[in-house]
Amino acid sequence: MRKKIVAGNWKMNKTHSEALALIKEINQHTVNDEVQLIVIPPSIYVSEVVNLAASNNVRVGVQNSSQYDGGAYTGELSSAMIKSVGAQFVLVGHSERREYFKEKNADLALKVDQLINDDLTPIYCCGEVLEDREAGNHFNFVKSQIEEGLFHLDETAILKIVIAYEPVWAIGTGVTASSDQAQEMHHFIRTLLTDKYGNDVANAISILYGGSCKPNIAQELFANSDVDGGLIGGASLNAQDFIAIANSF
Ligand code: 13P
Repeated sequence: MRKKIVAGNWKMNKTHSEALALIKEINQHTVNDEVQLIVIPPSIYVSEVVNLAASNNVRVGVQNSSQYDGGAYTGELSSAMIKSVGAQFVLVGHSERREYFKEKNADLALKVDQLINDDLTPIYCCGEVLEDREAGNHFNFVKSQIEEGLFHLDETAILKIVIAYEPVWAIGTGVTASSDQAQEMHHFIRTLLTDKYGNDVANAISILYGGSCKPNIAQELFANSDVDGGLIGGASLNAQDFIAIANSF
């Protein structure tokens, strides 16, 4: 069975003391053993959060990484650095990185390679903007994100990936994708994986939903056969909401 995952992307939120308070509060709760909890704080806090999170089997991720090995790339973090502080997951191609920092699928493919070489788990983000959905182009759009960012990987490497489907129109808007819209796209993504890598591989890859996922809707979303958990933004900044979502399977 593939893993159930609930990951909290804190984005550019929380001061140092607030970030430590949040992980400490998350630690006070228990979550069903079947669910892997991941927190993804701003990089500057990652070392400390790794140390605090370990006591509750919460894993830690980073929001971005470099496609380069190391050297003269001011402001960037290499996958080796991320590994050396004990983080295990890295978001790749979040829509905010794609939109504001002009990240392209070809760059993301290189980032994925770096991470896999260093034995980190990329959480590869995809999702269409509203105009694409309204034009009926959402499946094609997501298909090219998946193909161009991931389909250079062989079978062993693709098994190390987690995919997050985050429709851009649902992120931070309070407009959650309906349960049917989420399942339809997750099933589409799994079919792409099946066509390329076969059933066994496709069935082993977790596909998370993200975009205004809140405690009141999580259970309905997670009940879908192809929705294996969530990538949570706003609601992950509050420990009780985050834990309520993680307990929604
Ligand atoms: P919201 O849950 O705030 O919509 O954010 C989703 C997201 O972008 C997680 O990466």
